Amino acid sequence: MYSPKHLIVLAAILVQFVASIHGGTYNNEDHWVYLDKTTDIPDGTVLGGFDSDGYYNYVGRVLYSSAVLPARVVPELSKATYNTETLGNVAATYEVLVANETVSYEWIRSYDGYREKNAVSVGTDATNNRVFICRAISDQGLFIGTLYLAKRACIIKYESYPLRTFAKYEILIRKRKVANFMPFNLEIENH
Ligand SMILES: *[C@@H]1O[C@H](CO)[C@@H](O)[C@H](O)[C@H]1NC(C)=O
Repeated sequence: MYSPKHLIVLAAILVQFVASIHGGTYNNEDHWVYLDKTTDIPDGTVLGGFDSDGYYNYVGRVLYSSAVLPARVVPELSKATYNTETLGNVAATYEVLVANETVSYEWIRSYDGYREKNAVSVGTDATNNRVFICRAISDQGLFIGTLYLAKRACIIKYESYPLRTFAKYEILIRKRKVANFMPFNLEIENH
């Protein structure tokens, strides 16, 4: 009755539901798209950096142990890595952040857990604190990391590299654009 793909999606929804009871709530201000190994990343997926193997890393998020955390998504490998403040891990299921005609994203310099206006939050951790998206240069890469404002640092743990903490980093912020005027016939074509 259900294909394996359906079951995976159902399992993911169930995991999200259970997590929402225990904390670890998804933030829905932005457009996140669920990916699996069979789907290409959508146009507009937000680029974050590159890893030490030279792969581009796109901005993703995962649910781990009642916390929603930023992820480094490598579409070519159908792979996402992420980290808490203590450990790094690989995720089997993840979402990517997608920009569109009216909302775009930008990395700006920040420091010490400063609460930047329009910072993008992935969701909350197990204690219901909001988790933000940062990045920093380390270990031959530009890595997306986890920003807990209370810890005043961008935390990156990638594969076998040591855990890194940065007091200076870049943070991802949201920018709203005024939609361009659209001729009537174009509007019809888009529907
Ligand atoms: C773009 O994404 C934002 C955030 O998810 C959403 O509110 C908005 O409706 C989207 N705009 C278009 C044109 O799809």
